[in-house]
Amino acid sequence: MNIVNARLRGREGLHRLDLDGPRIAAIAPQPGSVAAAADDLDAAGNLVVPPFVEPHIHLDATLTAGEPAWNMSGTLFEGIERWAERKALVTFDDTKTRAKKTIDMLVDHGIQHVRTHVDVTDPTLAALRAMVEVREETRQLIDLQIVAFPQEGIESYANGRALMEQAIELGADVVGGIPHFENTRDQGVSSIKFLMDLAERNGCLVDVHCDETDDPQSRFLEVLAEEARVRGMGERVTASHTVAMGSYDNAYCSKLFRLLKISKINFVSCPTESIHLQGRFDTYPKRRGLTRVAEIDRAGMNVCFGQDSIVDPWYPLGNGNILRILEAGLHICHMLGYADLQRSLDLITDNSARTLNLGERYGLEVGRPANLLILSAPDDYEMIRTQGHALVSVRHGEVLMRRTPASVQRG
Ligand code: FE2
Repeated sequence: MNIVNARLRGREGLHRLDLDGPRIAAIAPQPGSVAAAADDLDAAGNLVVPPFVEPHIHLDATLTAGEPAWNMSGTLFEGIERWAERKALVTFDDTKTRAKKTIDMLVDHGIQHVRTHVDVTDPTLAALRAMVEVREETRQLIDLQIVAFPQEGIESYANGRALMEQAIELGADVVGGIPHFENTRDQGVSSIKFLMDLAERNGCLVDVHCDETDDPQSRFLEVLAEEARVRGMGERVTASHTVAMGSYDNAYCSKLFRLLKISKINFVSCPTESIHLQGRFDTYPKRRGLTRVAEIDRAGMNVCFGQDSIVDPWYPLGNGNILRILEAGLHICHMLGYADLQRSLDLITDNSARTLNLGERYGLEVGRPANLLILSAPDDYEMIRTQGHALVSVRHGEVLMRRTPASVQRG
């Protein structure tokens, strides 16, 4: 199968991509538009990009909002109460069914790489065991990375350290953490040292829920970045959320950025979730409760966007469409300048792939996997402006999803 009349980001004119089974065999410029052969895909002058990436989601919690009760205030704290009620009903099969339903939603919007956090503060580790099976059973749809995520803490939860170790033995790919939630600052710091040791020992990636609070004194990011720097692990480490950075004093932040840059760590922001859950202790003026996405990006560091929740006790909306998150994030982060708009897809493609350490398993280059999307617009700006979609998703050289755009008739 070949793709003709493709526009590629960062390259002039139209291109043709030849696929040889599961690999990209050739990419060549076309002098002009051509008629597509019967078994070719015609991109019709629109963008062809590598698949969208979901770098931060909780597949073990999705599709539970309203069970048994809705979060009426919309706050994080009521969300935790509602989740405690739902968590008591979570079973292995229930987790698998909801995760697979959500994966279908992601696939329908062009996502082929997913990093999910899974709560391991459960003596049975049922959700983790379920997700390890889901990872195998959905290989034809997505590549799934599983984070061992200690929702209720490592040091503050009974047997927290042992559960993290067991989760890695059972097959989690990434070591997680939640230092700002530990009972004391000391526990937060020791949890980071523990989780970095665990990752280093086992050759795992790291992704920590870090400073997900408006408290400007929540400063675990500096601890995580310094641990990553000293161990030379920065490119394998991600700080998720870091929303306290939105409340840090500028003088402190200026010093912090020096460390962040040399540490080489990655950042994930979940703009819809954070604008919804943060700023809840403010009257007016109200903080946006997001990390400094534009500033991180402009300082040359790696930052990407994730969905975090889909229809769970913390966030009631979501349909798997990461372009919706991108549009919201660009608004919330003051990134609607034309230069930002014209490279905005970086935030859900290349930057996210770097966060997930996908390396040569990702990207439109000869010899790499034939995984790609045909989009509905010719450039990043038009994708955002028209609220475009992924129209075709190709995986391992086969069509995985086709979407027919809505049509409008008058009169
Ligand atoms: Fe999260």
